[in-house]
Amino acid sequence: MEVLLGTKNRGKIVEALDLLSGLPGIEWRTHADRSFADVAEMGASFLENALLKATTIGAETGLPVLSEDAGLEVVALGGEPGVRSARYSSEPDSGAPVDYARNNALLLQRLSGVEDRRARFVAVAALWLPDGQIFVCSGVLDGRIALSPRGDGGFGYDPLFLPCGRTRTLAEMTLDEKNAISHRRRAIGRMRAIFEDLVAAGDLSGG
Ligand code: IMP
Repeated sequence: MEVLLGTKNRGKIVEALDLLSGLPGIEWRTHADRSFADVAEMGASFLENALLKATTIGAETGLPVLSEDAGLEVVALGGEPGVRSARYSSEPDSGAPVDYARNNALLLQRLSGVEDRRARFVAVAALWLPDGQIFVCSGVLDGRIALSPRGDGGFGYDPLFLPCGRTRTLAEMTLDEKNAISHRRRAIGRMRAIFEDLVAAGDLSGG
């Protein structure tokens, strides 16, 4: 039983495969095994984007697809960068490549002198099956934005994100440490239970 990960983001693939390891009866496929076109993330919410990616890539490949949309919401910025997290420092619709360092620099600039550093990561995972079934799970990680970037691990805003009660940023943690607490772990961890039920019911067998 094959399930395709509907992302080309290397950081997300590494984390998702780690979080989904050890599920009997499922063989994970990535874009390296089965290519698919990029999906423009035009949705107004993480949920819309996760569904858009899962259904579009599912329609193209015919395989069950697990997609995920995630991002950072900063309280003092009214929830920004939100769905624009990946391309926060680029012109909208410019098609410019994702630049993590520039995004982090812009975030620090917008928070310059701001005392309220509260923020959260949000992840929404969506699973689409060829018979039309859709399953959705979400997860949140609360924290705050550091005054300067620290650490080389992870990706995206990890060097700036201090989870609640921690003194190290996500980028200063090992993959295991980050995956034990992350928003993606909470969303995909909930999806694990759904996969177990689907395997038991034979719903992933393509029939
Ligand atoms: P997506 O690929 O549209 O879901 O965009 C996700 C963007 O949100 C990434 O490019 C990162 O900038 C940010 N992001 C999501 N999850 C994480 C994370 O776990 N760590 C750091 N940044 C993240």
